[in-house]
Amino acid sequence: MRTPFIAANWKMHKTVAETVTFVTEFRGLVKDIKDVEIVVAPPFTALHAAAEAARNSNVGIAAQNLYWERQGAFTGEISAPMIREAGAAYGIIGHSERRTLFGETDASVNRRIAAAFAERLTPIVCIGETLDQRERNETFAVLDRQIKQGFDGVTADEMAKLVIAYEPVWAIGTGRNATPAQASEAHGHIRARLLQWFGGEAAGRCRIIYGGSVKPDNTAALLSQPDVDGALVGGASMDVRDFFAIVSRGRREAV
Ligand code: 13P
Repeated sequence: MRTPFIAANWKMHKTVAETVTFVTEFRGLVKDIKDVEIVVAPPFTALHAAAEAARNSNVGIAAQNLYWERQGAFTGEISAPMIREAGAAYGIIGHSERRTLFGETDASVNRRIAAAFAERLTPIVCIGETLDQRERNETFAVLDRQIKQGFDGVTADEMAKLVIAYEPVWAIGTGRNATPAQASEAHGHIRARLLQWFGGEAAGRCRIIYGGSVKPDNTAALLSQPDVDGALVGGASMDVRDFFAIVSRGRREAV
């Protein structure tokens, strides 16, 4: 049985002070939840403060991105060792905003995954189609390409450990979430490809989580689908009560 995985992606929101206030309250709310892996991804500036505020709790901390080189003349970039040292144990990789606004590709996603594993960070790798691609019936082809190229060289053992976030671009920040049936279809397809390309152990253990307009009131329906192992939550994760409600509902329905 896969442990449900529910993560908050705050994107470019929250100061250090706001982060500490959130994490301090949130860790108290979720302290008795043992059956969900819970992660919060603040901006880089608040990473260390978040990790300190979450110390000895069941709340893990993620970076929202990471660069593949360890150090060097890469102005503005942050490496996996720096993230690890700041206290994070996870890294979001290849979010659609990174792909569309900052030119990231499956090839750069691939390098970031390797860099994360080299530093024992758990990658949370985002894939998903645009509305155009869905309307042209290219969803599965897009997912196949993102999996094949993004995870090139990833071992079955690594695949079992990482988290895939299926985030249809048309559902992100739009208030229009994928229906449970749409999510189920895409997640089922992804898991079938993992089985085909990485084997049964990897396919059985890899968490495939859904992202895109997840709210407290649609969490249970989405996470009750057999291949939906959790959620990556943007907007609704910034309110501590809403995110706690999502974690609580994901727990009840997904285990
Ligand atoms: P929203 O939950 O705001 O749609 O964002 C989803 C997302 O991009 C999480 O990474």
